[in-house]
Amino acid sequence: MLLTFHKLHPTFVAEVGPIDLRQVHDRATLDEIRAGMDQYAILVFRDQAFTDPEQLAFAQRFNGLLHSNTGAAVLGKNRFGNEALADISNLDEKGEILKSQDRRRMYALGNRLWHTDASFQDPPGRYSMLSARIIPPAGADTEFADLGSAYDALDPQTKATIEGLRVHHSIAYSRQTLGFEFSREEEDKLQGAIHPLVRTNPRNGRRSLYLASHASRIIDWPVPEGRLLLRDLIEHATQPQFVYRHVWRPADLVIWDNRATMHRARPFNDAQDRRELRRVTTLDIETPVALAPQVAVD
Ligand SMILES: [Fe+2]
Repeated sequence: MLLTFHKLHPTFVAEVGPIDLRQVHDRATLDEIRAGMDQYAILVFRDQAFTDPEQLAFAQRFNGLLHSNTGAAVLGKNRFGNEALADISNLDEKGEILKSQDRRRMYALGNRLWHTDASFQDPPGRYSMLSARIIPPAGADTEFADLGSAYDALDPQTKATIEGLRVHHSIAYSRQTLGFEFSREEEDKLQGAIHPLVRTNPRNGRRSLYLASHASRIIDWPVPEGRLLLRDLIEHATQPQFVYRHVWRPADLVIWDNRATMHRARPFNDAQDRRELRRVTTLDIETPVALAPQVAVD
């Protein structure tokens, strides 16, 4: 299939068409999309009316094993009975809008901090695929930062300083910066994970910063010094020239590479308007594509 990639930002992000991802099973087309991910880091597909099983099946066809060990799971089971299908909404299990003091709402507010998905796990998330089902009339855009271009733009001295550094990522840390408290039992389940500060896409050699609000400290550095460097790098990487703002339409599917981007949700009137999306994230492990599961998960 001959796809067109229309750039939506000077350095990353492309809109892809014409295609119905639900019907894509052939390796050549999936490879074309994977090559697009290597080049653009974020791909936008319009008019993809996924059901939940279709979205799960596509994610597995595209990139293998799914991430299901979410931070939200420590608060309680999700309403779909499948932790691989992340509930990105302001709704409770009955479909009612969450009350302002509901813990699940306060936890979800953390998605408004710049982050990469599942960086607090090992393996972390690779591709996230967010499917828009209900979009509020105003607000609720998602911003993305190009961490490949942000790395390229660093001065040589900073590049030398950060070479080889490793970072501890913890969702308990990032939520606590907003005043969200976990119980001791919950925190025990959220030990975090250590990842390199600079990552390389093995398919094309492209280097990127690997940052997130979850980044709590640099290994072997004094904690305040490490946090200051991480803060500087996040400020650098989120300057306007590195940021794309996605204005959602119903039935959008956006795929982003968590190794090369950060993202954050923007506010909306969540006490009044419904917002409902589903996210599926694949594991960042080397799974031969040919061996990846090909069947739907329900
Ligand atoms: Fe996210």
